[in-house]
Amino acid sequence: MSHSRSIFITGASSGIGLATAKLFHDKGWQVAATMRDPKDAASWMTGERCVIFACDVTDQSALDAAAGETLSKFGKIDVAFANAGYGLNGPIEGATEEQMLRQFDVNVHGVARTIKAVAPDMRARKSGLIITTSSIGGLIGMPMAPFYISSKHAVEGLIESARFELAPFGIQMKLLEPGGIKTDFSRRSADWTDHPAYADAISAGKKMAVDLLDSAPAPEKVAEVVLKMATDGKDRLRYLAKPGPYVALYKALPDRLWRGMIQMALRNAAKN
Ligand SMILES: NC(=O)c1ccc[n+]([C@@H]2O[C@H](COP(=O)([O-])OP(=O)(O)OC[C@H]3O[C@@H](n4cnc5c(N)ncnc54)[C@H](OP(=O)(O)O)[C@@H]3O)[C@@H](O)[C@H]2O)c1
Repeated sequence: MSHSRSIFITGASSGIGLATAKLFHDKGWQVAATMRDPKDAASWMTGERCVIFACDVTDQSALDAAAGETLSKFGKIDVAFANAGYGLNGPIEGATEEQMLRQFDVNVHGVARTIKAVAPDMRARKSGLIITTSSIGGLIGMPMAPFYISSKHAVEGLIESARFELAPFGIQMKLLEPGGIKTDFSRRSADWTDHPAYADAISAGKKMAVDLLDSAPAPEKVAEVVLKMATDGKDRLRYLAKPGPYVALYKALPDRLWRGMIQMALRNAAKN
């Protein structure tokens, strides 16, 4: 068994998960990179300190198997990074039953399943850190994303609550809250509801989402925050990562002004 530290990551095929896997690997960590399709694995992941597992976070048995094999290979999981997720955007009236359930199945229950997979070993060793990717959308509401935003609010509640049951076993919980980050999030990974009454708002929302993320910071910047979370030794719950101006404005402005500002941004996106 090696003595270097190990991290177990969900959603390591692209974006924040991939950048985090690479940074930790470069820093000498052992990396268990899980992804839905291992064909999406980066070429460096075939190295000695990395293992790749097929893992959909809607499948508890796949997560359990991946965690079990990681433990066999690395001896322990020091840090679990529950990162997999995607955004269901668009108005509530346009959502199918399947779309609504899937958003929470992946973003919320996927995190709970990841915790269930890694907690038994951490509990037995009385040591471990679970970092979950939330979002600034877990703190504030945004237009044309009620399901995604509410799923991330649920993640905030899940982790803020779960830390009380896990702390007595030496397991620490931290929430990563990125702002807009340039990943596949607003294109390949995005799902949209559809409804003719909201056609203009949907097309403005799509444009705003793509424009915002195209000019956003790179996921490597977020990976640096994850590394800090894993190594700073602090007993701290929330870490913002490149949040942009939104969280500060949300806190500072009266609600009427905040809403007006966001509605104006949506109207401008619709015009352009
Ligand atoms: N980009 C942003 O602006 C932003 C801001 C705040 C928070 N976030 C959060 O950051 C996390 C990572 O997103 P990203 O920005 O890096 O976007 P991304 O590049 O689209 O990555 C999303 C990752 O999640 C995986 N995933 C989706 N559904 C899955 C499932 N059912 N089982 C397992 N893996 C699944 C994807 O796998 P596949 O390759 O198989 O699709 C991919 O690896 C998400 O939780 C997202 O909500 C993103």
